[in-house]
Amino acid sequence: MTVAQTTAAQPAQSTEDTGPSFEDLARRVDEAVQAVAALEDPARRVADELKVAVEGIHRAGLVTIVRRMRAHPAARELLFELVDDPVIRLLFSVHGIIRPDPMTEANRVLVEVRPQLQSHGGDVQLVRIEEGVAYVRLEGACNGCSMSSVTLRNLVEQALVTGVASITSVQVLPTEPSPTLIPLESLRIGTDPAAEGWVEALPAAEVPAGALRAVELTAPGGKQAEVIVVNVENRLTAYVNECAHEGLPLDNAVIDTANGTLTCPWHGFCYDATSGECLSAPGAQLEQLPLRVDDGHVWVRVGR
Ligand code: FES
Repeated sequence: MTVAQTTAAQPAQSTEDTGPSFEDLARRVDEAVQAVAALEDPARRVADELKVAVEGIHRAGLVTIVRRMRAHPAARELLFELVDDPVIRLLFSVHGIIRPDPMTEANRVLVEVRPQLQSHGGDVQLVRIEEGVAYVRLEGACNGCSMSSVTLRNLVEQALVTGVASITSVQVLPTEPSPTLIPLESLRIGTDPAAEGWVEALPAAEVPAGALRAVELTAPGGKQAEVIVVNVENRLTAYVNECAHEGLPLDNAVIDTANGTLTCPWHGFCYDATSGECLSAPGAQLEQLPLRVDDGHVWVRVGR
């Protein structure tokens, strides 16, 4: 049974009333899926199309509900509580409204291999996961090119790839953390900013000190990005509008100018507001985008 199938067949009734339990509903979906799989091709195609259409309606409705709830303070509180409910979390994950949390999954997997690494004088640190690639730093005996270090690296790679569905490969980063600097070249606005991927985001005056603004940008090539522009003591920074925890939006993140932090409203991950470094989960990081202020307007490079 896939989660999508479970959700698609779930009738529109509360699991808290006297109706069937979630487990009963999941079982019914299982049976329906098996029955559909046994159909002749044309009938199965129709059933699959129906499933896709129903899921599409559910997703559209859920996205609207989440957007409307996020927009109202009281409803937002309730939404945060609902996300912690396992069934709601499953529903949101299935429809791509929240991501499963691969960092947590991966760290759980690494906890299992860590004793073996440490018994050989090595260790591993998960830095981030991007597009299926887990970036790790290896320490001690895991580093170098001896047979044992290669064996330990293979152990880490195998554990992550087999233990976390969303990880397809592992990249080893240099031992010393490299600062998250944006190359100077990428900050230069040339004679044709649009061709270079720069998009005018908003007037700088709309992001006063201690505030953040969420904007949806479209580069001339069509690439779209949801971005937040953060102002801490008049230093502006742009990030992809996705928390490193579960990818939820940071529109309503809280900025603490005294500490220079930005806190995700969903589960409280706390970031250094000017570097994007996560202070709650070492190694996690907001994705920073090149930003320039030109003639009172904030430009963000999203196209390249
Ligand atoms: S999405 Fe969980 S802390 Fe941000």
